[in-house]
Amino acid sequence: MVKTNTKIIFILFFVFLLESLGSAHDGGKINILEEEILSDFDDIFYNEDEDEDEIFDVWRNGRGNKNLVNVDTCGAVGDGTSDDTKAFEDAWKEACSKRRSVFMVPSGRTYLVNATKFNGPCANGLIIQIDGTIVAPSDPENWDPKSPKAWLVFSNLTGVTFQGNGIIDGSGSKWWEASCKKNKSNACKSAPRALTIDLSSGIRVKGLTFQNSQQMHFVISRSNSVRVNGVKVSSPGDSPNTDGIHISESTNVVLQDCKIGTGDDCISIVNASSNIKMKNIYCGPGHGISIGSLGKDESIGVVNRVVLDTAYLKGTTNGLRIKTWQGGSGYVRTVRFQNVQMEDVSNPIIIDQFYCDSQKPCQNQTSAVEISEVLYRNVSGTTKSKKAMKFACSDTVPCSHITLDNVNLEARDGTAEVYCNSATGIIAGYVHPEAECLNSNDKKIEQEIEECNVHDEL
Ligand SMILES: *[C@@H]1O[C@H](CO)[C@@H](O)[C@H](O)[C@H]1NC(C)=O
Ligand SMILES: *[C@@H]1O[C@H](CO)[C@@H](O)[C@H](O)[C@H]1NC(C)=O
Ligand SMILES: *[C@@H]1O[C@H](CO)[C@@H](O)[C@H](O)[C@H]1NC(C)=O
Ligand SMILES: *[C@@H]1O[C@H](CO)[C@@H](O)[C@H](O)[C@H]1NC(C)=O
Ligand SMILES: *[C@@H]1O[C@H](CO)[C@@H](O)[C@H](O)[C@H]1NC(C)=O
Ligand SMILES: *[C@@H]1O[C@H](CO)[C@@H](O)[C@H](O)[C@H]1NC(C)=O
Repeated sequence: MVKTNTKIIFILFFVFLLESLGSAHDGGKINILEEEILSDFDDIFYNEDEDEDEIFDVWRNGRGNKNLVNVDTCGAVGDGTSDDTKAFEDAWKEACSKRRSVFMVPSGRTYLVNATKFNGPCANGLIIQIDGTIVAPSDPENWDPKSPKAWLVFSNLTGVTFQGNGIIDGSGSKWWEASCKKNKSNACKSAPRALTIDLSSGIRVKGLTFQNSQQMHFVISRSNSVRVNGVKVSSPGDSPNTDGIHISESTNVVLQDCKIGTGDDCISIVNASSNIKMKNIYCGPGHGISIGSLGKDESIGVVNRVVLDTAYLKGTTNGLRIKTWQGGSGYVRTVRFQNVQMEDVSNPIIIDQFYCDSQKPCQNQTSAVEISEVLYRNVSGTTKSKKAMKFACSDTVPCSHITLDNVNLEARDGTAEVYCNSATGIIAGYVHPEAECLNSNDKKIEQEIEECNVHDEL
């Protein structure tokens, strides 16, 4: 019991630490070197695993008077065809209302559940233990019209842990066939996201597998202090819009030890998100690890303080990507990608301020989401496309303070190259292919100054 209390204090301290980190630099000088800003950010990775195991052990060993709520005892059938929605709703009511509950989805069974909202606030100490499989109804025709964009939504929770070896399966194949990306004669309609954690804080997610989602697999939205460990995502490489983990309007999010293979971005980070740390990420197949898209329909997009440390990308259509639409505003600032290994990746390093994912072409505009302070360090491997690095930035809103430090990307045939438009930065350490074009704007200015001096002397 004493040990448990210590752990709880530790968790509270951790949440406090994350929150203080979140506010420490708000309103401060933005132009500090990313190094300085991000160094304390690293600390949030340390000493983290023990207490999670402790939470797990506490209920496993039957210590701590847990209120076990098994969906089976609430009437779930678990045969994969009976409708278990009502049993899940009843179990949720019971688990949410009592302290120290475990909402239990037992292993070895498959539960068919409709679009459902699991709303908080709940009594303290809730654990959601998913060891079995939860599947969605597979037919888009019968989908609940009241919930066109969501399947399982957990909302307004504080201090909740999701864990287990279970599977969240969106049964997405019919949705994919109906997608306008698969077949141009289909109308473009939204499809559900498998699991959403919304308006929540102090959340941990450990060990779950997401597969075959209708669209995005796992969405973290409008939340603060979320820690995800050991999550797997698996969907075919040609399944449309099936992002692995999508982070929106959220702060202090840590993703660690995740293995993601899907048909869209492995991880996507969009508007109003900051202090996002990713560590030990495997991505492939997929569209890479993305910030954005941002700025669609002339909107404001802001993403700040993102770190990816240690990643392996294999056969993806992009590697490390920042994508924004023309006409938007806001900024992407202070991003660090380091220790990344690529194998057969198209566009391994790409900033694309001309992103256009609509059926009609996008016009260039003067306004754009500003991109600055992006560091690529220790990035190596093979590129499938000729352009190993592409910095395609807006003529009116250039990309600045791009740093390349120890980057080595090679094409199979040895013809890798770098493309720059309106981007400036620093090259440190060995960089291949040569990225002189990042310096060229600075050089032009230097040259102009020199030419002026010459004229003065004459
Ligand atoms: C689940 O969806 C099916 C198909 O729309 C519907 O027939 C059924 O009543 C729903 N179940 C619940 C508990 O709402
Ligand atoms: C969330 O929970 C709080 C209480 O903690 C409540 O006041 C609020 O109305 C809830 N919000 C939503 C959107 O359910
Ligand atoms: C595309 O959709 C149309 C109408 O929905 C259908 O007739 C056609 O067979 C589909 N094409 C493919 C390649 O699936
Ligand atoms: C992005 O977030 C900001 C608040 O930080 C908000 O003002 C803006 O409307 C958001 N943009 C979109 C597209 O939702
Ligand atoms: C937009 O501007 C970029 C950079 O100058 C240029 O490469 C691209 O062709 C332009 N696109 C359109 C649609 O004009
Ligand atoms: C980059 O790689 C070098 C050599 O492999 C290593 O010593 C260094 O610690 C790495 N940098 C970071 C920031 O991890």
